[in-house]
Amino acid sequence: MKITIVGAGNVGATCANEIAIKEIADELVILDVNEGMTRGKALDLWQTSPILSFDTRIVPAADDYEKTNNSDVVVITAGLPRKPGMSRDDLIHTNALIVKDVVENIVKYSPEAILIIVSNPLDVMTYAAFLAANGLSSKKVFGMAGILDTARFKSFIAEALNISPKSIHAILMGGHGDSMVPLPRYTTVSGIPIKELLPEKKLNEILERTKKGGGELVNLMGTSAWYAPGAATAQMVESVVRNQRRVFPVCAALNGEYGLSNLHLGVPVVLGKNGIEKVIELHLDEEEMSLLKKSAKEVKQLMQVLDDMNIFEKKYAHLNPIG
Ligand code: NAI
Ligand code: 2OP
Repeated sequence: MKITIVGAGNVGATCANEIAIKEIADELVILDVNEGMTRGKALDLWQTSPILSFDTRIVPAADDYEKTNNSDVVVITAGLPRKPGMSRDDLIHTNALIVKDVVENIVKYSPEAILIIVSNPLDVMTYAAFLAANGLSSKKVFGMAGILDTARFKSFIAEALNISPKSIHAILMGGHGDSMVPLPRYTTVSGIPIKELLPEKKLNEILERTKKGGGELVNLMGTSAWYAPGAATAQMVESVVRNQRRVFPVCAALNGEYGLSNLHLGVPVVLGKNGIEKVIELHLDEEEMSLLKKSAKEVKQLMQVLDDMNIFEKKYAHLNPIG
């Protein structure tokens, strides 16, 4: 099993660390345009192997895509993180060009790979990666955000109830941004509906904090988070590599599910050796569905910004407007 991580920054390096510890790859390639950082981080990580006890070989690839040849899974974290005051559009313009270049190079050397996108803005970068992969099945190109957003939601609930985060089960849908759709109706503490345990006011506070969870960390650190994003991405890689068929919220291409088409949006999926094995369609009530459609509309607007850059031949943002 060969896994490549593109982008050896905060999220990429943390994800690499998690993947090495999980021992799910024979070879883990770390590729970045920054040669010193690529070689340094790969060497440093390899030097943890006797301490953390793993056999996975860590291979540095300073902008050298040949070394990624025949990767089974590729994680893409290359791109700028959001800084305070930076607009989403700024990030789209810069990161779309990076993601396009990275994906085109990756598929040249690994045409069968499964691509997991992390770069932001997540939903539109997953769309960009799908266009750049030019022919790769949409089941093999998907994005990480939902596990992270759900983890934030769960961590806040665990704190409020002073219980183990392991006992909390939740699902969350929609775009990776303020329009995300946490679903209290599907949130339980070991099967006990959350509304039986948390007063409505506290639950609403947690829902709002979750939606702004990424921004909270950007404001604290001046750049975006990496521990939880790196761990969330590694969990997705593991589900694919070990064919665990775990159910996660993942940014996936929608083709009619939830009445939505031609966009990439966070939905529950089964994640296995073929990538997205199945999109699970929940029976959302009227309010939940209206929130999901509102989120879809916001993602479509960002997709339009990408389409207007005219860097890809295909364009989907204008197709199937959402009712
Ligand atoms: P970072 O700045 O620490 O690392 C980014 C790395 O990408 C740098 O090492 C840079 O040299 C590299 N890079 C830039 N252009 C490249 C190219 N053309 N080819 C290869 N490597 C290239 O940023 P960080 O914190 O690791 O974040 C990475 C991305 O992930 C950002 O876009 C950030 O917004 C996003 N992110 C997404 C999350 C999600 O939930 N989907 C959560 C956290 C971050
Ligand atoms: C996060 O949610 C900003 O996407 C980044 O931490």
